[in-house]
Amino acid sequence: MKNLELDLGERSYPIFIARDLIGEPDLWTKYIAGKQVCIVTNDTIAPLYLEKLKAQLGDKSVCEVILPDGEAYKTLATLEQIFDTLLAKNHNRGTTLIALGGGVVGDMCGFAAACYQRGVQFIQIPSTLLSMVDSSVGGKTGVNHPMGKNMIGAFHQPNCVLADLSLLDTLPEREYSAGMAEVIKYGLICDAPFFEWLESNIAGLMSRNTDLLEEAVYRSCVNKAEVVAEDEREGGRRAILNLGHTFGHAIETAEGYGNWLHGEAVSAGMVLAMALSLELGWLGADIYERGKKLLELAGLPTSPPENMDVDQFLQLMGRDKKVLDGRLRLVLLKGLGEAVVSSEAPEATIAKVLRAAGVRA
Ligand code: NAD
Ligand code: GLY
Repeated sequence: MKNLELDLGERSYPIFIARDLIGEPDLWTKYIAGKQVCIVTNDTIAPLYLEKLKAQLGDKSVCEVILPDGEAYKTLATLEQIFDTLLAKNHNRGTTLIALGGGVVGDMCGFAAACYQRGVQFIQIPSTLLSMVDSSVGGKTGVNHPMGKNMIGAFHQPNCVLADLSLLDTLPEREYSAGMAEVIKYGLICDAPFFEWLESNIAGLMSRNTDLLEEAVYRSCVNKAEVVAEDEREGGRRAILNLGHTFGHAIETAEGYGNWLHGEAVSAGMVLAMALSLELGWLGADIYERGKKLLELAGLPTSPPENMDVDQFLQLMGRDKKVLDGRLRLVLLKGLGEAVVSSEAPEATIAKVLRAAGVRA
């Protein structure tokens, strides 16, 4: 087993990474303070793992909320189901919520925990690769609004994160690849040796070799934990975690939530961010090619969708919340492992890069 601590003073918490962690309650049930527990999951994950999780919580008073599966349900309306159950079962401020699922369940459960009776504790048990390496770590929680993704939310840190790698046995291949986009992101933004390690091990990782996977999840979480510990509320450096995300959010919004997976949109977005960095003369063509190739080997899209045009792209990017004072702030690369947040790219240059990537004029 590997583990690390996200250092946030009194809000610090451990992240455990290994196979079969759910079945080791001595390790993690100590992070549940009271008697009441509410497990939040969805109708895909519940039949696979809910009973096993409940079986570990012997002396607790446990209830469950099974949400409909999908990004389309990551809404304020769906959140009501969690509050309805907590109130109907008389859960008090001492309750602990457990998120059992991917990023959608984790973001919603975390936001419910941030809001219920002005804030209760919660634990993350991420079940996708993406949620193990990104969304379960760092305390960003929330839901979508029809006018923008993740626009309603809160920072609320979990008590612990349990990355049980055996849950990935049932994860569909496309979802696994989507998670690999965020793994590769850490190499690109802040960890060149990790990027090189990924280049050497991508075949084994794609066949889900346990030792390689444990190392990849661990090194991703170490990188994320370092960035979050430095800048919990994204006043500055944390924004580098959004490499490719402004382009990616435009793709997700244009295509409809869920049609392009988040990690797929981030992959195509990272290639655009690298292309823009190249166009600005900040990144060598060799790094651009290596980044693109690694994403391809991970089974990810590296071009934007064919049905978008440049104006639509720019308009949707402008609506993204990372816009400051009317200027597009983008995460760009000044080398492998050297991300910067910059407003320097002129709109005409962004449009040129989009056209070169095949987006209609
Ligand atoms: P997801 O939660 O939708 O899960 C993907 C699919 O896999 C779903 O159909 C789910 O039911 C299924 N699934 C999950 N675990 C499974 C398992 N073990 N076996 C079989 N099927 C399984 O998607 P995701 O990629 O995990 O998360 C994407 C979400 O995360 C987006 O909403 C995104 O905005 C959010 N996100 C949040 C942060 C953050 O910092 N909070 C960071 C990145 C992404
Ligand atoms: N996924 C970006 C962040 O956690 O800040």
